[in-house]
Amino acid sequence: MTTLEIKNLDVSFGEKKILDNLSFNLDSGQIAALLGPSGCGKTTLLRSIAGLIQPDAGTIRFGKQLVSLSSLSLPAHKRKIGYVPQEGALFPHLNIAQNIAFGIDRSAFTKEQIKQVVKEMLTLIDLVGLDKRMPNELSGGQQTRVALARALAVKPAMILLDEPFSALDAQLRAELRTDVIKLLRTQKTTAILVTHDREEALVSSDVVALMRDGKIMQQGSPEQVYSSPTSATTAMSTGDTLVLSAKRLVNGQTNYLFNPINLDANILEIGEVVIRPEEIKISKDLSSAKIIGEITKIDYYGHDAMVEIAVSNESVQVRIPGPAKYATGEKVALEHLGPIRFFANSKS
Ligand SMILES: Nc1ncnc2c1ncn2[C@@H]1O[C@H](COP(=O)(O)OP(=O)(O)OP(=O)(O)O)[C@@H](O)[C@H]1O
Ligand SMILES: [Mg+2]
Repeated sequence: MTTLEIKNLDVSFGEKKILDNLSFNLDSGQIAALLGPSGCGKTTLLRSIAGLIQPDAGTIRFGKQLVSLSSLSLPAHKRKIGYVPQEGALFPHLNIAQNIAFGIDRSAFTKEQIKQVVKEMLTLIDLVGLDKRMPNELSGGQQTRVALARALAVKPAMILLDEPFSALDAQLRAELRTDVIKLLRTQKTTAILVTHDREEALVSSDVVALMRDGKIMQQGSPEQVYSSPTSATTAMSTGDTLVLSAKRLVNGQTNYLFNPINLDANILEIGEVVIRPEEIKISKDLSSAKIIGEITKIDYYGHDAMVEIAVSNESVQVRIPGPAKYATGEKVALEHLGPIRFFANSKS
């Protein structure tokens, strides 16, 4: 259990800057989800925190302790970090009990104490009785549990999980994720979970950090990052997003697809409006409709459906509760319920 404070971190491999002046804070006992596209530097960030990479610049603090500065680096094994690498890799020649015990400091504990910790961990991950099995005799999900137990066995102050569930099928993934998050919460372990999965990030964490090109673009609670994105790009990182060109007028109004107002007023800024598909309402009643479109496609998901509608020259995606009561080709009225999230184009 410890806080994490990262300031102005730079990491380069050769000429290429991988982490670029990156800053990130996490409170003690919180779980952060690190979400970002492949190659943006997520693993590099975890490896820097774990002490496996020496950053070129910046600082990393655990609580009050400075663990990394360009001229100082606390070695990985002294950082009290549980790290589950992306490959998950158990040691193939060691059995499950030996894998779990691997990181425990043998000089600090008796054989009996280590046995006791392994037993606790096996109970925790629900694999009691499998301690003598070899890794290749376990399913993928069981192997993931063991990798997690190995990381937790050292009673880490912080745990770093690099896409631990990515190799599992959807159902097992959701089950194991729920178990792991429960475990981390019970132990009040500060944790970072790397994921590609937007829903996994939102559902698992206290804090979502959106990463791109070696920087954290936005950090906040799942609700904040989903409802109050700081740009169209951050909006797209956390969920389905409709981006419409827009103009903000001097009188404070916004002209966009759902509010086609008179443009005689002076234009203040040109930009875009960002909308979530569930923020648009559609109806069959066209009598008082301001905006009418034609349904071009319906994707039915059971709990809801995504309806694609052609309006003017735009294709608009609208999420409606299932079962779908509309048909392709049908004309519908559309209304944007709000909020209007306007982002001005950056001035060059
Ligand atoms: N040891 C290394 N030497 C040189 N380049 C590296 C090294 N490790 C990573 N990179 C490069 O740094 C960039 C970031 O890699 P990183 O593994 O941190 O990405 P990631 O966000 O974890 O991606 P993924 O989601 O695919 O796991 C990539 O372009 C990668 O090729
Ligand atoms: Mg990675």
